[in-house]
Amino acid sequence: MIGRFVTLEGGEGVGKSTQVRALAAALRERGLELVETREPGGSPGAEAIRRLLLDGTDDRWGAEAEALLFAAARADHVDKVIRPSLQSGSWVLSDRFVDSSLAYQGGAGRLGLEAVRSINGFGIGECFPDRTLVLVLPEGIERALARDDHRSDRIGGRSADYHRAVDAAFRKIAADEPDRVRLIDASGAVKQVTARLLGALEDLL
Ligand code: TYD
Repeated sequence: MIGRFVTLEGGEGVGKSTQVRALAAALRERGLELVETREPGGSPGAEAIRRLLLDGTDDRWGAEAEALLFAAARADHVDKVIRPSLQSGSWVLSDRFVDSSLAYQGGAGRLGLEAVRSINGFGIGECFPDRTLVLVLPEGIERALARDDHRSDRIGGRSADYHRAVDAAFRKIAADEPDRVRLIDASGAVKQVTARLLGALEDLL
């Protein structure tokens, strides 16, 4: 038996961490065995790379090196955690995955979606998400940027223009791959948003 692989994505300040926990709890309530994980990180090697990626000044890595480090962390995460969990029949819910690299490094970082897809393909192989839920605010990202409290790390702290480009890239990815990627309205009460996320998984349950 092979489990389902679900990823949750979104820009800064859309309440993603809260929703990962709530969605994991809701899926477990339905009797699913579920492994909850995150990127960058999720395995010991990838967590070590996470510190290289998020600590230090913005110019610590060039665009290509940054994208390759995310891809290297992801390859280890897939190899050590995601693929074995799916093969054992568990569902996997990951807080961010390859679409974050596509949106941040590819779209906003100007490497382009194709280059980022290609360097990630090597490490991911066939281990692609069955469904990717992207949290977005219908009114745009200005309010999220104003209230976000994660902006101290190397990437969260980038300019408002960078984060607008991330948001635009997530919307483009969703438009290009409507079967896999769904935009989910992140506004309203936490419970309402969780219900929308669950609704977008109904056909997989
Ligand atoms: P994290 O503390 O996990 O932030 P968040 O709470 O927003 O998920 O830090 C991850 C940061 O790294 C976040 O700003 C998004 C960025 N990121 C990329 O740029 N590319 C990637 O492939 C991934 C997984 C994350």
